Amino acid sequence: MTPAPAPRSKKSEGSIAVLKAPRPRHAAPSADALARARGALEARIAERCPKSLALGERARKALPGGVSHDNRFVGGPSLYMQKARGARKYDVDGRSYIDYWVGHGALLLGHARREIVEAVHLAAQEVMHPGACHEREVLWAERVRALIPSAECVRFTASGSESTALAVRLARALTGRDLLVKFEGHFHGWLDHAVNAIDVPFETPWTRGVPEAVRALTRVLPANNLAFVEQALSSGDVAGVILEPTGAAGGAVPLAAGFLDGLRELCTRFGTKLIFDEVITGFRVAPGGVQDRFHVFPDITCLAKVLAGGMPGGAVCGPKESFAPMQFSGDGAKDRVRRVAQYGTFNASPVSAAAGNAMLRLVDGGAPCRAAEAFTTQLKRRLNALFKAEGLPFAAYGFSSVFHLFTAEPAAAELLRDGEIDAVQISADRLKKKGALDALLRRALLLEGVDLPPGRQAWISAAHGDEELEETVDAFTRALHALRELGCL
Ligand SMILES: Cc1ncc(COP(=O)(O)O)c(C=O)c1O
Repeated sequence: MTPAPAPRSKKSEGSIAVLKAPRPRHAAPSADALARARGALEARIAERCPKSLALGERARKALPGGVSHDNRFVGGPSLYMQKARGARKYDVDGRSYIDYWVGHGALLLGHARREIVEAVHLAAQEVMHPGACHEREVLWAERVRALIPSAECVRFTASGSESTALAVRLARALTGRDLLVKFEGHFHGWLDHAVNAIDVPFETPWTRGVPEAVRALTRVLPANNLAFVEQALSSGDVAGVILEPTGAAGGAVPLAAGFLDGLRELCTRFGTKLIFDEVITGFRVAPGGVQDRFHVFPDITCLAKVLAGGMPGGAVCGPKESFAPMQFSGDGAKDRVRRVAQYGTFNASPVSAAAGNAMLRLVDGGAPCRAAEAFTTQLKRRLNALFKAEGLPFAAYGFSSVFHLFTAEPAAAELLRDGEIDAVQISADRLKKKGALDALLRRALLLEGVDLPPGRQAWISAAHGDEELEETVDAFTRALHALRELGCL
């Protein structure tokens, strides 16, 4: 039985009038209640979104699982989106949603930002793909160098997954060692080098098809324990330590103060390369990413998402020593055995470079990062007040403009609710766990015009404003009431 929230004195209730009414206790819903609620919500979605339903049927015949990205498999009707502007997107049935995916976090400026759309049009008209060097890639690299503190050299890729793959290859070439250290729950893309311990239970392989011999090249550690890292690195065979520098899943499992500094010191001491995966945090938590904000500088940085302004693209950057293995000597035979090689038809495509250049020009100075973060702070505060008022042991938390909703465990939610700093007291497997209500809440929110990703994180753009804030809080209120009426709160 879930404990009821602590009784409050009238004085401590502040101005939240709704607290004065007694609230029902929250008890964990039964499996039957959850299944009935799910059926009812899906029936409502099907009734309101017939065109999406028809597209879903066609998709299941042509696309495995009906999707092109596993995270878009929502187990139930998928909605098919037709257009998007600012913080909103519109489905094929003409319904509108406040969007908390914003291009899987890529669209820091929201959808269809004029300067980016114009840059893409112009580039596509001039040259879609010259199969040659071009000025936009040089400008793009110069902009990355100007914003990311540790970036002297930049090599473009076509995605974040490719960026972490190249970073690991560089670390191995630079050190002559094979092993990689990563942390529980941290995500570095879907390719073979990165698939260990992404999700709970961490010991269970995340995917089939990756040989054990490949998985054995990665040592997985819990984050926030420098003694474990020291022990792992002291064997002298670790090429690189890779991490999401605000914590697993965009900060869903936050890092302890001092952990990044400690990693920097240990990596320097043991000759191991420190790799920051700033695919989410780069150009988002500050124009120069986590390293700009916390002044801890990695040997290798992985970028994607905001970097390419909503088009496909990624990059690896760092001090020029980190790229020594990519320099050409001019002697083909020597290069064949000494160089780190990288190809990629779409690396620095002019259209991606154009979008990226427009994005980075607008991010310079940090106004969009600050606007998105200010919205997120308000959203967390308002949702936590709502959860309290409704007597629900849920929590909204997160760092900068990445946002997490936690419904899994009442005791843990209490720790998260009022102070994000307390989150480090909770283990990664508890924080990464999904709650039974997550999927239902997501469906109930869709019916109220809010689209939250089903994973452990959601993203905010600088286009989210006061109207979206009020509408989102109202939508949550109605969605929670719908779930209560359906007998699962
Ligand atoms: C931290 C992090 N690294 C790497 C990736 C992989 O990037 P991509 O999806 O562009 O391959 C992601 C994607 O969400 C990510 O969040």
